[in-house]
Amino acid sequence: MIDFKYYTPTEVIFGKDSEAKVAKLVKQYGGTKVLVHYGGQSARRSGLLDKVCELLQAEGIEYILLGGVVPNPRLSKVHEGITLCRKENVDFILAVGGGSVIDSSKAIAYGVGYDGDVWDFYSGKAKATSFVPLGTVLTIPAAGSEMSESSVITNEDGDIKKGYSNNISRPKFAIMNPERTFTLPPYQTAAGVTDIMMHMMERYFSHDGDMTVTDNLTESLLRTMKECVFAVLKNPEDYRNRAQIMWGGSLAHNGLTGCGREEDWATHEIEHELSGMFDVTHGAGLAAIWPSWARYVMKEDISRFVRFAVNVMDVENDFTDPEGTAIKGIEAMERFYHAIGMPINIHELIGHVVTDDEIKEMASKCTNNRTITQGRFKVLTAEDIEKIYTMAN
Ligand code: NZQ
Ligand code: ZN
Repeated sequence: MIDFKYYTPTEVIFGKDSEAKVAKLVKQYGGTKVLVHYGGQSARRSGLLDKVCELLQAEGIEYILLGGVVPNPRLSKVHEGITLCRKENVDFILAVGGGSVIDSSKAIAYGVGYDGDVWDFYSGKAKATSFVPLGTVLTIPAAGSEMSESSVITNEDGDIKKGYSNNISRPKFAIMNPERTFTLPPYQTAAGVTDIMMHMMERYFSHDGDMTVTDNLTESLLRTMKECVFAVLKNPEDYRNRAQIMWGGSLAHNGLTGCGREEDWATHEIEHELSGMFDVTHGAGLAAIWPSWARYVMKEDISRFVRFAVNVMDVENDFTDPEGTAIKGIEAMERFYHAIGMPINIHELIGHVVTDDEIKEMASKCTNNRTITQGRFKVLTAEDIEKIYTMAN
């Protein structure tokens, strides 16, 4: 097990009607003028946004609203938020929504006290040192941004999607009411669970062989997500299973399942280029890439893929044929993706194949113009990444 630091400062308020505590929490963390940031329609349609505003008003907390965050949140909306926060002297940001709204909020929070363009953080030019305190009311379990240190923004100038990680961006609190996820469409539910599972798999496929606690914890969480998703696809108002998924989504990405090991993240980086170019749902994009990534890298350590096949995907271990067992595990994952309505390749994802030129462009963007590599389980060059896109096409 390698040395690690586990830092998870977010206060979690979980359960039915938990949003009732929102105004008190904003006050507790020093908010006096709040930007309430939200997405398209869902938070307004469900009445959640009105409820949050009423609670803030009742507590005597001033607020302003900024909606319109789209999935794969855009830099232009972030700029709009920064300008608004400065003009209105906002001292607290409240994200009401999913990963896209939370990430847009994080980017605004970095930008308010920064003289340059906030994109500098995402392009790697600068490191953020200030952050407006942030709280979240989560409506979709998926990205894990409610407890994570990362955010991902798309710059419309060049369709470049980049992530930035910094511990100062971990939210002060996360309000999670599983009932608020009853309205999720099946596709978003399934893409969310795919993303949650991938946040663990990006950490699970690692070379360190001595991490039993983290491995067993991860396998148990992966199996739980796999089981619960079918129940909520059948009955969207199944509180018990919505709750497991919601809490599992936070544990998957708050650092816990990475303790003591080297993380990979290649599938995410490869997917971000697909989202950037084709504006696809992040979780579905991951499902389209992972099987090809897995087949491309598995020989780096077959025993890891055998363990995954047996302990997570219920494949029988054929001790005479480790490679065969590993492949059966990947095939079982593909069957699982199909069973929940996810694609397993790019043409299933976007309805057509991508061209060789598009593959080259995505591989270049993914490696900062072929200057860096991705992944750790197998270190991938731009050429490797092109091969994975081609296999996944
Ligand atoms: O915009 P509205 O109308 O709210 O609709 C949203 C959106 O269309 C809808 N939705 C959300 N809650 C709902 C609901 N519909 C009905 N009922 C509800 N309760 O769902 C759609 C997707 O929302 P979004 O916020 O985009 O989903 P998600 O949480 O999957 O976030 C995706 C973004 O997070 C990034 C992804 O790259 C992507 O941009 N990620 C962020 C990470 C992080 N910050 O740590 C890590 C992840 O790996 C990921 O990369
Ligand atoms: Zn993700």
